[in-house]
Amino acid sequence: MPDYKGSGANAGGYMSAVQYDLVLKGGTLVDPLGTARSNVRADLGIRDGKLAAVSDGIDPSCGGDVYDAAGLFILPGLIDAHVHFRDPGLTYKEDFGSGSAAAACGGITTVADMPNTLPPTAGTIELREKARAAGERSYTDFGLFALLTQDNLEETGGLIREGALGFKVFLGTSVGNIAAPPLGTLYGQMRRAGRRRIAFHAEDNELNEYFTRLCRGIPGNDPTLLARARPDISEAEAVARAIRLAEYTGAAIHICHVSARRSLALIREAKRRGLPVSAETCPQYLFLDSGDYPRLGTRMKVNPPVRGAEDREALWQGIAEGIIDMIATDHAPHTAEEKDRPLWEAPPGIAGVETSAPLMLTAVNRGRLSLNDYARIASLGPARVWGLYPQKGSAGINTDADFTIVDMNRTGVIRNAGLHSKHQTSPYDGFETTGAPVAALLRGCFIMKDGVLTGNAGFGRFVYPAQPEPADPVAAD
Ligand code: NCD
Ligand code: ZN
Ligand code: ZN
Repeated sequence: MPDYKGSGANAGGYMSAVQYDLVLKGGTLVDPLGTARSNVRADLGIRDGKLAAVSDGIDPSCGGDVYDAAGLFILPGLIDAHVHFRDPGLTYKEDFGSGSAAAACGGITTVADMPNTLPPTAGTIELREKARAAGERSYTDFGLFALLTQDNLEETGGLIREGALGFKVFLGTSVGNIAAPPLGTLYGQMRRAGRRRIAFHAEDNELNEYFTRLCRGIPGNDPTLLARARPDISEAEAVARAIRLAEYTGAAIHICHVSARRSLALIREAKRRGLPVSAETCPQYLFLDSGDYPRLGTRMKVNPPVRGAEDREALWQGIAEGIIDMIATDHAPHTAEEKDRPLWEAPPGIAGVETSAPLMLTAVNRGRLSLNDYARIASLGPARVWGLYPQKGSAGINTDADFTIVDMNRTGVIRNAGLHSKHQTSPYDGFETTGAPVAALLRGCFIMKDGVLTGNAGFGRFVYPAQPEPADPVAAD
């Protein structure tokens, strides 16, 4: 494991004074880049919100508090880099308080919020105000995406200085009806993005419109039409465009919510060519497939849609291969009344911030991926891609003491009534899980213990990429 050169507490004999605010005793620290053999049994000493020591034996009297982690696994704090907390403007669906409480209860310590709020996060004033308001309500640390629109080209530099985690482009319209900037404007924005990465909602509008019109003409309410209305060619077409823009502008890009094997193949190829392309997928594309539409109907309506079992299998394969850099949830809550509207009127989006970790840990127990791979895609991966590493995503000495403590034997059943979002619309109601986050620490403080929220609203901090920007991030077109 990297960076464990910190002094073990027993390096020079025990000290009588309290040395740590908290000691996590006897857990197994999971190495996101290793295998089970590189995980280490260790005591973690935490001081002033930072990891101060990793040692094979810290005297418990050195800790103000001691948490017995024997038999448990310790992962660097989980990061969900794609959530819609609807704040400001759509807070009847969710707000930063309820969304981040649900995140914390699901073992997540840092989130990144998307800009399709009301108003959209497209200017420096909106970004500053969102950061301020979220800072008063959030239980988790949070980054904020800034939206690229047809008329904010000149704001690119200001949004970077204001602390945007990255930029977001809706190549295909989704909730919020945000149009993509014209290609020329987008080119200019990507040239001005400096080291900030650009996240794409990658679907092609014209193809979606064509196929949606065809499907809406089919009588009946077959929910599998939701997938046919936005077919995989739409995603592939937009992914190819985003990759081409990355190649020509030099900007780093990120493909959100990859749902299809054929777009995954394009990302694999781009990575092989050395292009700065990263990708995420979401639990809905790994745990659901088109066979679930008859049972779940519009509860599983989402953009892009959940597709066939071959797509689902290819995405698991993409995780194993390292083509998928991260698991994010695209937590996109709506009210139950909205979700249960007729096929074409129900809004797309699945609320999943609280259920991702239990589902993924269940997949670990079933042998779908290793716990190390899970730590890689749920913590290290997003931290690296979004410039938060090593403060987040690592167990390095002197980095933020964010940890998610996991019990791989804990069994449970997901019950919508027990979820902490404003609206309990999860498609996973009744799913049986084995493996669960049992505690989450943010900068040394427990924000969740045994599924109970223990943090404070407003403890969450605004986070942004650690890398300094070049003096003048504006490149010549
Ligand atoms: C998202 C939302 O509701 O904001 N919905 C969705 O279906 N994924 C928007 C988005 O991520 O495209
Ligand atoms: Zn999207
Ligand atoms: Zn989204």
